[in-house]
Amino acid sequence: MNEITASVKAGVLTLSMQRPEKKNALNLPMYTQLTKALLDAEQDSQINVVVLQGSATCFTSGNDLQDFLAAGPLDEEHPVVQFLYTVAAFPKPLIAAVAGLAIGIGTTVLLHCDLVYATADCRFQMPFTLLGLCPEAASSLLLPQIAGYQRAAQYLLLAEPFTAQQAAQFGLVNEIVSNEQLLAYAATKAEQLAALPALAVQRSKALLKAPQLQQVQQTIKNELIDFGQLLSSDTCRQRLQAFFSR
Ligand code: COA
Repeated sequence: MNEITASVKAGVLTLSMQRPEKKNALNLPMYTQLTKALLDAEQDSQINVVVLQGSATCFTSGNDLQDFLAAGPLDEEHPVVQFLYTVAAFPKPLIAAVAGLAIGIGTTVLLHCDLVYATADCRFQMPFTLLGLCPEAASSLLLPQIAGYQRAAQYLLLAEPFTAQQAAQFGLVNEIVSNEQLLAYAATKAEQLAALPALAVQRSKALLKAPQLQQVQQTIKNELIDFGQLLSSDTCRQRLQAFFSR
């Protein structure tokens, strides 16, 4: 089964994570498919907006922890690394429709999305330190900017979960939508955006992102050095194994 499905309507590419038996945990083939779909969408003049979603009840439980256990070097060729750089520099609007779980990269990817719609039952969490890891996806730069330093420390050091209401209050989430409405609502917003003059929208996004794109890329790079070292530590491996022997 294809765990990333793609559909196109009215200039909107919708990418859906579909691995329900693992709560949509992202494995390496899923990252590769997402990256390819984004790079193709970048080149495709028929696509103006991309929506990233899970189901109406679950966004994603984050990186597949089994893949973390088996991880090779996090070099430029690694599927996760390629996805991070691609999503950070994606030139067309990216909209996230988030329900239920948004763990790890399920939260940090939202820092690269332009619009985020979430359900009230969302649980956001970046449990990196709990696993003996550190922030990724430039969250160490972007989260303090959006949420303030102390709140970022609460979520990235203590690794406390937070709700959609909290995320909306500090600006990570645009609007809270019911589970029944979520996917249709995100699609409506995406079609609204896709109907605007595409060049004007893309130039506007580029202007919004330009002031710190290089810093974001450099932060991703710096984080990956620490992340890769921590990933191979005994502490991290024990914590990952503990998850699977619950
Ligand atoms: N990687 C790999 N497998 C995962 C996973 C992940 N990130 N998240 C969930 N799964 C698997 C579980 O192992 C389980 O598989 P099994 O049925 O073969 O045993 C299945 O998905 C269902 O998960 P389960 O834990 O039973 O669901 P839950 O509703 O009780 O808990 C979570 C959901 C997300 C709270 C819990 O699964 C969890 O903490 N996952 C890890 C999240 C994480 O640390 N992500 C990486 C952050 S860097």
